[in-house]
Amino acid sequence: MDLTIRPRRLRANESLRRMVRETRISSDSLVYPVFIKEGHNIKDEIPSLPGQYHYSPDMVCEAAELALQAGVGSLLLFGLPAHKDPVGSEAYHDHAALQEGIRALKEHYSDLQVITDVCMCEYTSHGHCGILNGTEVDNDKTLPYLAKIALSHVQAGADMVAPSDMMDGRVAAIRQVLDENGFTGTPIMSYSAKYASAFYGPFREAAGSAPAFGNRKSYQMDPHNSREALKESLTDAAEGADILMVKPALSYLDIIRMVKESTNLPLAAYSVSGEYAMIKAASAQNLIDEYAVMCESALSIYRAGADILISYYAPELAAAIRKGDIG
Ligand code: PBG
Repeated sequence: MDLTIRPRRLRANESLRRMVRETRISSDSLVYPVFIKEGHNIKDEIPSLPGQYHYSPDMVCEAAELALQAGVGSLLLFGLPAHKDPVGSEAYHDHAALQEGIRALKEHYSDLQVITDVCMCEYTSHGHCGILNGTEVDNDKTLPYLAKIALSHVQAGADMVAPSDMMDGRVAAIRQVLDENGFTGTPIMSYSAKYASAFYGPFREAAGSAPAFGNRKSYQMDPHNSREALKESLTDAAEGADILMVKPALSYLDIIRMVKESTNLPLAAYSVSGEYAMIKAASAQNLIDEYAVMCESALSIYRAGADILISYYAPELAAAIRKGDIG
């Protein structure tokens, strides 16, 4: 055969394939989500997220140890309160589980990057991400609460805050309050393009944060839209976000690519609970090879343009990178 171009030449052996890889991944870019629950001596496996745990503040260092041993240096923390009320007041309580967990982590691991999710849905009795006005989530009334929550996390020692509520103007509101309190150097990682997704199901089970009525479609984005993701991302960037995010990841690879090409901020992708739980469930039935699918899924998110990956598989992915199976 007279073939000039033979793409197979560059696939001939492992070292050649590794040399020409277009996507390089480092475990430095992985973030591991962790749930902190009120109480003592708790490390309970989360039924909807096999292999993930609820930790009480006195036990959360185990999660940090697991991550750091694997080579993951960043955690994204979620708090579960003991009591919920209409304004989610435990979210900004200085001695709530999350704030105590932050203190424990920073006391033991000063180099660990502690990022906190800033939202109200785990804390409100109605399960919505803001303050209600009748059955509507009131955007502007919610902003001071979000800023207060972010400030309380940073005062407890958080290195970075990540608002996930999808209220308009929240990045500016949080930036202003952090700055007024002397935290001008604390970055904001904004959940900038967060879709109203069915892939959050296992998380809501884990965090007890399903809305008591209705849904989140009046504040989270419509999955039909992509240009709107740019509008959201550019708005958050203009309000002072330091890192942008697309969430979920796997069904939104086009959005990751699009946002990446339109901003020069670092871009995170959140491979959410449903993505993790589906791989777990399918592999439990021997339908897929869990390890291989985990690796390929993560790789595809980086290939689409993510600089940072938030994943429940972060420690396992770091091990896969170390072994050279991806990266
Ligand atoms: C809080 C929040 C959610 C997730 C992250 N922050 C749930 C939601 O918006 O309902 C989802 C994370 C996941 O599914 O892994 N608003």
